Amino acid sequence: MTNYPEFTSPILSELPDKGTISCSSPSNIALVKYWGKRPVQLPENASISFTLDACKTITSLHYKKHDKVSENFDFDLIFEGKHKLDFKPKIQSFFSRIETYLPFLKQYHFTIETSNTFPHSSGIASSASGMSAIAYCLMQLEKMINPAMSEVECIQKASFLARLGSGSACRSIQGPITVWGKHADIQDSSDAFAIKFPDKVHQNFEDYQDTILLIDKGEKQVSSTVGHDLMHGHPFAAKRFEQASGNIIKLKEILISGDLNSFIEVVESEALTLHAMMMTSLPYFILMKPNTLSVINKVWEYRKKTGSKLCFTLDAGANVHLLYPNIEKDQILEFITNELVVYCQNGQYICDKIGLGAKLL
Ligand code: DP6
Repeated sequence: MTNYPEFTSPILSELPDKGTISCSSPSNIALVKYWGKRPVQLPENASISFTLDACKTITSLHYKKHDKVSENFDFDLIFEGKHKLDFKPKIQSFFSRIETYLPFLKQYHFTIETSNTFPHSSGIASSASGMSAIAYCLMQLEKMINPAMSEVECIQKASFLARLGSGSACRSIQGPITVWGKHADIQDSSDAFAIKFPDKVHQNFEDYQDTILLIDKGEKQVSSTVGHDLMHGHPFAAKRFEQASGNIIKLKEILISGDLNSFIEVVESEALTLHAMMMTSLPYFILMKPNTLSVINKVWEYRKKTGSKLCFTLDAGANVHLLYPNIEKDQILEFITNELVVYCQNGQYICDKIGLGAKLL
């Protein structure tokens, strides 16, 4: 029995013998954050994100059919040219979660060859881009096996599978703005997969920029699994989930109206709340670094001085994502190079913007 029988699929045609499927899938940055989940990989609240463009994983899935079905999953993982044994357990558990939905998995040997366009251990989460890329490749194989599958079904199932690899990965399959998690005010939203934000987005958000300041490239202090777990029994959890739900309603209106001042308020409040949740959990964590706070203060100063619509958001780490409209790009890049680069580790930052999601190469 599965929770989602609509995503199980019979094997309708002859399995292809061997071949390679290559795709790219981007990272994404949440505006309303997913923080807190229940089994299996279901979010406690709806989240909404910008899909990125430049920060992505490029994956080739080489498949070769076995003569008979093997007992275990049979795959190799090559990351940036090298066999990576330490990444295998994650893929192993991903495969066991999705096996019911892709019954052909044990009939193949897979070599998964993958690399990222962003520096490894830059503190940029590679699970969203990495897992969505594998899910997307696997769906291309499934499409060969079940040719009747429509493009819409295929995209939806890719997001569904990606979610089982890493929650936020389900928001990377499509772009430019996606919503994951059932919410009464978002038509067709679901806990099982992400959808494209369904309403017409104001042109203020066209080509929205995200410059990622790499403040601290160290190993993650808290894995996302541990982090999400901290929300169980958290004294403020129920209120937080309620707040997130309210912020989805606010952000929906903002994305339609183009009200950038309200956008700043919701996005920065979400970022600080995410960190507040970690500071007030047991055990507690401070994931910002002194330079994170310096950047935040500089952003506030700059906004006050210039009337700019620049704002920040944070992931579960010290790096800062600077979000701003495309029309302000030149001035803000000047501000970054003149005043913010000093706070970046080795002066490193990545210029990205909103993008369209996974694609076949
Ligand atoms: C802070 O998607 O990495 O980036 O489902 O355990 O893989 P798992 O967690 P993950 O959590 C991301 C948390 C976040 C906020 C967000 O992206 O919404």
